[in-house]
Amino acid sequence: MNDPQGRSTVLITGAGRGLGREFARQYARAGWRVIGTVRDDRSEAALAKLGVEVHRADVSDRRSLARLAARLKSAPIDVLVCNAGIYGPRGARLGKLDYAGWEEVLRVNLFGPAATVEALLENVAASDRKVVVMMSSRLGSISESKGRDYLYGSSKAALNAIGKAMSVDLAPRGITVVSLTPGWVRTDMGGREAPLGPQGDRRFGGVEVRSVLQLRWRGGGVVAGKIGTLARARNTG
Ligand SMILES: NC(=O)c1ccc[n+]([C@@H]2O[C@H](COP(=O)([O-])OP(=O)(O)OC[C@H]3O[C@@H](n4cnc5c(N)ncnc54)[C@H](OP(=O)(O)O)[C@@H]3O)[C@@H](O)[C@H]2O)c1
Repeated sequence: MNDPQGRSTVLITGAGRGLGREFARQYARAGWRVIGTVRDDRSEAALAKLGVEVHRADVSDRRSLARLAARLKSAPIDVLVCNAGIYGPRGARLGKLDYAGWEEVLRVNLFGPAATVEALLENVAASDRKVVVMMSSRLGSISESKGRDYLYGSSKAALNAIGKAMSVDLAPRGITVVSLTPGWVRTDMGGREAPLGPQGDRRFGGVEVRSVLQLRWRGGGVVAGKIGTLARARNTG
């Protein structure tokens, strides 16, 4: 069911900067109803200028997500992009692991998407497209681990695991869950040395929004069951 103006709806967490903001910009430009979550006034103002409906939400706070769900009521969400994430403390090495920092990374990158899906599941189920997107990372690949990324890498590997579990559990409801890696992109997290820029027109990172995130498209379930394999575009990061 589309919104009163006949538009499909996407909700993007962490839409105030970086990849989330660019996804919001592209979806808005494509004529979607875009709902973005932020955590501060400055992001709210910047995002509102793009024509995005902005809400406050901290994905590591389940009460905050419950408030978001209450504000959205039964609004259908065609594509739910669980984008909000942190890298965590840099320089954590075996022998010097920062467990407090690790807990925070897991709270945001793993429990955050799980709680976001739980809070907004009925909104996704009420939509036409019924897609959940997990923003993963190549650093979450177990087979391609180059060592070192204990905190962030484990959070994304576990995110892939729960994404796969959700894709199985939600398939009977026609909900597709997919885990994507955007490539290594110049954002606050990606840093200046990343090869991909966030301001591309249709191409953003390695992921082309039209072909990858507008998944309905080939029928529900096209990617369900493949979530353990990160969907890769040309440049993976
Ligand atoms: N950039 C890359 O090369 C790359 C590669 C692979 C995967 N990714 C993934 O892509 C996603 C976006 O990354 P990015 O590069 O755009 O990072 P970024 O520029 O650092 O932006 C992170 C976003 O997440 C939000 N966020 C952080 N903690 C949050 C919380 N507890 N609740 C709600 N929002 C929160 C931030 O909001 P505030 O402004 O309020 O802090 C910000 O909007 C992440 O999941 C990341 O792991 C990025």
